[in-house]
Amino acid sequence: MTVDTPPGQWADGPGADWVEEAEEADEDLALRREAAADETSRASRHWWDRNADDYQDEHGAFLGDDRFTWCPEGLDEADARLLGDPAALSGLDVLEVGAGAAQCSRWLAARGARPVALDISHRQLQHARRIDEERGGPLVALVQADAAVLPFADGAFDLACSAYGAVPFSADTAELMREVHRVLRPGGRWVFSVTHPIRWAFPDEPGEEGLTATSSYFDRTPYVEQDEQGRATYVEHHRTLGDRVRELTGAGFRLLDLVEPLWPEELEQSWGGWSPLRGRHLPGTAIFVTRRD
Ligand SMILES: C[S@@+](CC[C@H](N)C(=O)[O-])C[C@H]1O[C@@H](n2cnc3c(N)ncnc32)[C@H](O)[C@@H]1O
Repeated sequence: MTVDTPPGQWADGPGADWVEEAEEADEDLALRREAAADETSRASRHWWDRNADDYQDEHGAFLGDDRFTWCPEGLDEADARLLGDPAALSGLDVLEVGAGAAQCSRWLAARGARPVALDISHRQLQHARRIDEERGGPLVALVQADAAVLPFADGAFDLACSAYGAVPFSADTAELMREVHRVLRPGGRWVFSVTHPIRWAFPDEPGEEGLTATSSYFDRTPYVEQDEQGRATYVEHHRTLGDRVRELTGAGFRLLDLVEPLWPEELEQSWGGWSPLRGRHLPGTAIFVTRRD
């Protein structure tokens, strides 16, 4: 079957090689098709529950237990300061959206913030708890929930952040933005990273093949992997840069910056389709820095 450009590889590399393997093994198939919010959420929860162990095995060392890195380019919050002055984090209530094993939350807690690490996957949160226990605490507050339906009161947080968390894996990100806006106090920042939207036009391959555009950047059709019954098992959703700006401003956020991290010359380590070669030619990550009006 023909498969359009898979966008990201947090999902263990659903690129062309993966598709061939899947077809041979009669496993899930990859395609571009619509996927509604409930189907997307169900797929995300199950996929991350099934794959959390492998994900943490493969990427845990890069992520570090208490490092706050925004992206495969290795841009750290300690240097980027997109949440503001690290010295001013102390005492702030912070929501980490799609926290995984809560590495970023641990970095925030070490600076005196009070983070809540929210994730849809129970298994990812079990890894968060495991890491805390191995380190002898303190324990990060964990909440299992869908980012599009936040179980918090209005104005509960001073800051919200997400490093490739729920945003790419949610169907209705306009609603997600409204939810984050609702739980933030006035003036609170919402900073999140996602695969740079331009990557959706290119094959998700780390080598030369990943440098030639083969799809339309404007095609918002989700990337879906589905089982033999046609049920989605993994979904990623695409928005253009303009779409993101409109959903952010529509929710009541002011865009302060759009950061496109450079690939550092000394960084040799690839992460799926994020590689030194592609990083020299194309942005791989977009980080939206916003403030609630
Ligand atoms: C690529 S990981 C990012 C987490 C962490 N920053 C990291 O780099 O490992 C994506 C995370 O988003 C979570 N996620 C996906 N969809 C979600 C949703 N709708 N609501 C909350 N979390 C979600 C996944 O379970 C996963 O832990």
